[in-house]
Amino acid sequence: MEAATARMIRRLSVKTGFSLPGGPEPDAAKATLVLDCQHAGEAVQSVREDESYHLAVTPQRAHLTAPTPVGVLRGMETFLQLVERDSQGFSVPSVRIDDHPRFPWRGLLIDVARHWIPADVLKRNIDGMAAVKLNVLHLHLSDDQSFRVESRKYPLLQEKGSDGHYFTQAELKDLIAYARDRGIRVVPELDMPAHTTSWFVGYPQYASAPGPYPLDRRLYDLHDPTLDPTREEVYTFLDGLLGEVAGLFPDAYFHVGGDEVTGRHWNANPRIVAFMKDHSMKSDDDLQTYFTLRVRAIAQKHGKQIIIWHKTQTPGIPADVLMDYWGQGAGELADTVRAGNAAIVSSGYYLDLIRSAEFHYRNDPLGDDAASLTPEQQTRVLGGEACAWSEWMTPENIDSRLWPRLAAIAERFWSPQDVRDVDSMYGRLAVVSNHLRSLGLTHVSNYQLMLERLAGTSDVDSLRTLADVLEPVKNGGREQYHYTTLTPLNRLVDAVRPESDTARIFARQVKQGRENQDTIRRQLQVWRDCRKALTPLLMQSVLLHEDVPLAEDLSAVAQSGLEALGYLDAGNPAPQAWWEEQTVLLDLAAKPHAEMLLMIVNPVRTLMEAARRGSW
Ligand code: ACM
Repeated sequence: MEAATARMIRRLSVKTGFSLPGGPEPDAAKATLVLDCQHAGEAVQSVREDESYHLAVTPQRAHLTAPTPVGVLRGMETFLQLVERDSQGFSVPSVRIDDHPRFPWRGLLIDVARHWIPADVLKRNIDGMAAVKLNVLHLHLSDDQSFRVESRKYPLLQEKGSDGHYFTQAELKDLIAYARDRGIRVVPELDMPAHTTSWFVGYPQYASAPGPYPLDRRLYDLHDPTLDPTREEVYTFLDGLLGEVAGLFPDAYFHVGGDEVTGRHWNANPRIVAFMKDHSMKSDDDLQTYFTLRVRAIAQKHGKQIIIWHKTQTPGIPADVLMDYWGQGAGELADTVRAGNAAIVSSGYYLDLIRSAEFHYRNDPLGDDAASLTPEQQTRVLGGEACAWSEWMTPENIDSRLWPRLAAIAERFWSPQDVRDVDSMYGRLAVVSNHLRSLGLTHVSNYQLMLERLAGTSDVDSLRTLADVLEPVKNGGREQYHYTTLTPLNRLVDAVRPESDTARIFARQVKQGRENQDTIRRQLQVWRDCRKALTPLLMQSVLLHEDVPLAEDLSAVAQSGLEALGYLDAGNPAPQAWWEEQTVLLDLAAKPHAEMLLMIVNPVRTLMEAARRGSW
């Protein structure tokens, strides 16, 4: 609490310019801010730690009361959000807030395996998580492409499996303490038995197929290499490795993966096939259940409860295994909790799929399944996790892939189910986004920086006009281009934001119709005319040549919109031939170019439809 108080005072004084006292007020009656923590916290923050708080602000003082230090931390973030500025100075409104989270598990997965995300980048994002009251950082520490933890027992894991980028044990301890100081648990994941190619570069003897295994840097396709679940030396190895890593992470949970086993290397190995037959196993799923049970016993020996990626076809998983639900199947989550397992929900929160804040915000962890569950079963859904799979994320652009959308997800996990007004969310998201920038997050600053580097000049206004209405392709649409971990992520698609605010706001103006026609016209003129400055800029940098068609489309689509406005002004339905010609143009402009989408196409279509009708 002392560290948190010092941070809070510092943030207040930076924000307001007030010189605030560094230490506590000795006369309690005079204190203007009272932090009242009723109990000591848990030695190791658990999923059930009480995070509630009560904040009362009167003209005399602000009084923050909470049962635990973690509750005080949550209340401090609320207090900091309430500080308002006007021409007279700064104030906090008089309020009484009784607050507690809807879900105890509000996480963010960061995949540090596919692209290396170092500790300083994680720390600034931990600050952002704390600001929006998230409480679990799930570190996906290994995958086919890399192994990112220093193992002293099995040093070839990081020496041969990481390209030199991994967390030392000391760095992890420091990172965990940093998160702990902000009320955030850190849960490790070592994904197994598949997603383990990087392990076999140093230790091919534990694989199901003979080596050697070179580091496989492909960021596409499922990879076949898999641990051999039939050999005892594999479990001896896992006992050593899990024991070592479990010792670094104080949290009660250890995620052991379990997703996307292709089974190909199992089925091609006669010894594994014979083992399955001897043990009356009918399928790869049975063998995987056997493996999961063995790993569960090892983790339990080291004091950990396991989490696995939920898989429908693996019956026989005991109720103490926490399911990380990432599927889409209707009713599967309900089946899982009905079977007695607790679950966290990642499905619908994959930030790498480049969906809108609205999409994630509307996705409730309990979803449509809630109605079929008893209240007791509903409490087994502990919460959810946003996932940042890092195929297309680097330290440079990860903040823009996380923020501000992650704040909308954080609200979904914290606030009551009936808080779901999307317009209100977007209005507040813009404010929170600025708040997060002031904490040091780079989701806006690195965007500008990347545009300037791509253009080779700081004069990038025209490029920004284009980039502001582009989004990367959605739903893994970049996978077909066969990236590896060595492919530089230095193109326009890597800079543009996952959700274009400019296009979203334009679409809303169009939807509202005639009252906005002057604003719409001015905006369309800017887009039509930006080409004059933009095309030469794109031509002068080889990194931007591929984006010339997007600049042409922006201009042409804007021209269609202006023509539509012209017909609407005249009050006559637009001619069919015009409409058909524009439709061809818009259909082409709607296709991805350079792995990006031009987000003004749909609102301009709406304008064209209005023009065809002859009325708004
Ligand atoms: C996953 O997305 N393979 C868990």
